[in-house]
Order: sequence, then C-alpha cells, then structure tokens
Amino acid sequence: MPQLSNSQLTQIATQFGTPVYVYHAEKIRDQYQKLTTAFAGQNVQFFYACKALTNINILKYVKSIGANADCSSINEVKMALLAGFEPNKVLYTSNGIAFAEIEEAQSLGVHINIDSLSNLEKFGQKYGHSYPVGIRLRPNIMAGGNLKISTGHDKSKFGIPADQINQVLSLIEQDNLHIQTLHIHTGSEIKDVDVFVKGIEVLFDIIPLFKELEVIDLGGGFKVPYKKNDHETDIALLAQKVGEAFANHPNPSGKPLQVWFEPGKFFVSEAGYFITQVNVLKQTEATTFAGVNSGFNHLIRPMFYESYHQIDNISNPGGEEKHYTVTGNICETDTFAWDRQLPEVNEGDYLVFRNAGAYGFEMSSNYNSRFKPAEVLVLGGEPLLIRKRDVFEDLLKNQVEVL
Ligand code: LLP
Repeated sequence: MPQLSNSQLTQIATQFGTPVYVYHAEKIRDQYQKLTTAFAGQNVQFFYACKALTNINILKYVKSIGANADCSSINEVKMALLAGFEPNKVLYTSNGIAFAEIEEAQSLGVHINIDSLSNLEKFGQKYGHSYPVGIRLRPNIMAGGNLKISTGHDKSKFGIPADQINQVLSLIEQDNLHIQTLHIHTGSEIKDVDVFVKGIEVLFDIIPLFKELEVIDLGGGFKVPYKKNDHETDIALLAQKVGEAFANHPNPSGKPLQVWFEPGKFFVSEAGYFITQVNVLKQTEATTFAGVNSGFNHLIRPMFYESYHQIDNISNPGGEEKHYTVTGNICETDTFAWDRQLPEVNEGDYLVFRNAGAYGFEMSSNYNSRFKPAEVLVLGGEPLLIRKRDVFEDLLKNQVEVL
C-alpha cells in the first residue's frame, strides 16, 4: 500500500491548517486484510481495540471492512454501537471499573471480559448462568515494548492472577456462571510471537476446567514498524504457531474453540500522519531547536513512552541533511526527537510525524489551553474533515462561571 504522498499531505495541511491528524482509510483496510489473509482457514475473529483511535468515522470504516470492536470503557461501547456494530460484534474488556458499568454493558448485549474476583462475584449473583461472560486472566508473563505498556506480568493490575484460579472456580460453582471466554493481554508492542504461544500454554492448563468455553481471547499488542527495517510482529508466523498450538490441543469439551485478537496499533498506527508546522528555529551551543506548533498535548507518546516517530520535512525533502531537536510549544520540556537528522528546516516548513494513527489524537489534551488538532480521513484519495479543530469556546465549554 503506497503511503500518502508529500504533495497530498502538503495539500491537506494547506487546506485544513496545522496541526492536523490525517488517516489513510485504505491502509487500515490493508492491515485488516493482512490479518485475515494470514489466519485464513482458522477459527479467528479480530476486534479492533478502539482505544487507539475512536473517531466515529474510523469506527464506521472499521465496521465496513468487516472487523469487530474491542472497547475499554462503557463510552467506547456506546460509540461502537453508535457506529453500527452489532452488540455481538462488540467486546468490553474492562479493568478496575464499577459494577454499574458491567450492568450497563450487559443491558446493551455486548461481550464482557471481567477482570476482578469482586466483579465476577457480583456478576454471578445478579446474572447466574443467564449471560455468557469472559474472564480476563493475568498470565504472569513479562512482555511488551516497555514497562508502562506491559500488562501481563506478576505486578500488573490487569486481570485475575492465574494462580487465583481456585477462587474463580468457586465463584463459578457458587452461582453457576456461564464462562464463554478466557482472555489474556500481555502488553503492547510484542515482537516475539512466542509470547502469544506462552500465553496459550498457560491457558491450556486450565481450559479443561471450563466446560462451556467457546473462545480464547489473546488480546492485542502486535508490534508495528516505526522506521525502516524495524522489528514487527511476524503475523504469518503468529498464525502458523497459533494454528499449530490449537491443532495439538483440541478443546476437551469437544466444541471447537474460537480465537479472538484485539489489535489496536496494528490497525491504525501506520495509517496516521500528524502534520505540524515549524514556528521557530533556535540555534544553541547544544543543538538547533525546531519548535513546532504542537506539543505533548497533541502527541504524548515520545515524552510518555520514549517512543520513536519518524519525522519528515515535507516542505524541503531534498534539502541538505542537518541535525535538529524537534520540540513543541508547551511550557514544559517537550521533546519529540533529540538531534534528529532532517533535510534543512526553515520556519514555516511542514514536519510530518509518522505512525501517528494509534494513541495520537486519542491521548491528546487541552493542556496550556491549546486547541486539539483537526482530524482528516483520506478515503478513495479524497480528504474529508472528520473533526474540526477546537475553537476558543471549546476551552470553556464545561466550565461553570461562578465568580
Ligand atoms: N486489548 C487490551 C485489553 C488492551 O489493554 C490493549 C491496549 C489492546 C488490546 C490493544 O493493544 P495494541 O494492539 O494497541 O498494542 N498508549 C500506549 C499503548 C497502550 C495500550 C493499552 N492497551 C502507546 O501509545 O504505546
């Protein structure tokens, strides 16, 4: 899939202004097709982890290409239903939530993965066997790009620790719970497909204990490349290993087990571009700063996870290569990239951040009372505005003036 060209991005920046997030619809479709092609012939379903990017148009597009939706709050569930997903195509994998949200999700008819003994007990008391449900387990596996995005290890808050399985079983027996799904999600940016196999092995030990099990949900976390020759999850190898693992371990109940995945980044990361414009060049003895009209209020990943985003100067792609430290305009240390080689940068140039589709706009804020950026979807070559840039009134929208 060709990427959006510099001239397309320049045209969008000129037409819609900057900073602006741009998403390439057909790239999202391509990513989904990579998954369905690799797993062809297997009993597998993919749920887009919509926490990565929830613009309603993205949700509708993801639905239109045939994927399902994984949600991490009741509001995401409602967004997915609003986008047109059937309730049985929506999954709510909760953590640390009030039972009232689970009740609401149940009333909406979506799949639910419960991640605490306390909520599982409440669920059992209220619904007994009447509503099939999933359990999120913590497999005690260390995986993921860095500690902040590792969720399956033995100090993680996520899931019911696998060693508390006896307590889970007592609750099931007590209220005759109908356990449909066992779920694990060990982290984000998992390069090594054996992590998924390890997860499956942890589950194989306990699968025979769940008589009505239909689904093994292996979560998300596929690693995407951030630069040329970067590591990425080998999806074909993953499909092969998952297929082998299940072929060697048929479900003891005799029912075929369906496998679910919940990728977020894999769907939308590479489909996204974030276009900023250089406000100020500042030469110092340490480095030359290129200060752009954005900051960690719009793209927090470099400051929060030390994530790498390729930056391109689309205004001067053939310029002489020099070194720049790309910073934002927030009144805090706000570094996107230190000492990065870029074609010569001039004030006013458009700098584009790649891999901006996942957890970019979605984690943005109005810090420093700055506006959130606009969002544009490129569909069939046509740029469509899918979110207006904030205006001043938005900053005051929910404030109650009492003085
Ligand atoms: N399923 C569950 C239960 C999750 O908690 C997550 C992500 C996913 C699926 C999707 O993971 P993905 O395929 O996107 O890696 N904000 C961080 C990533 C946090 C991921 C949180 N959970 C970042 O920008 O790197």
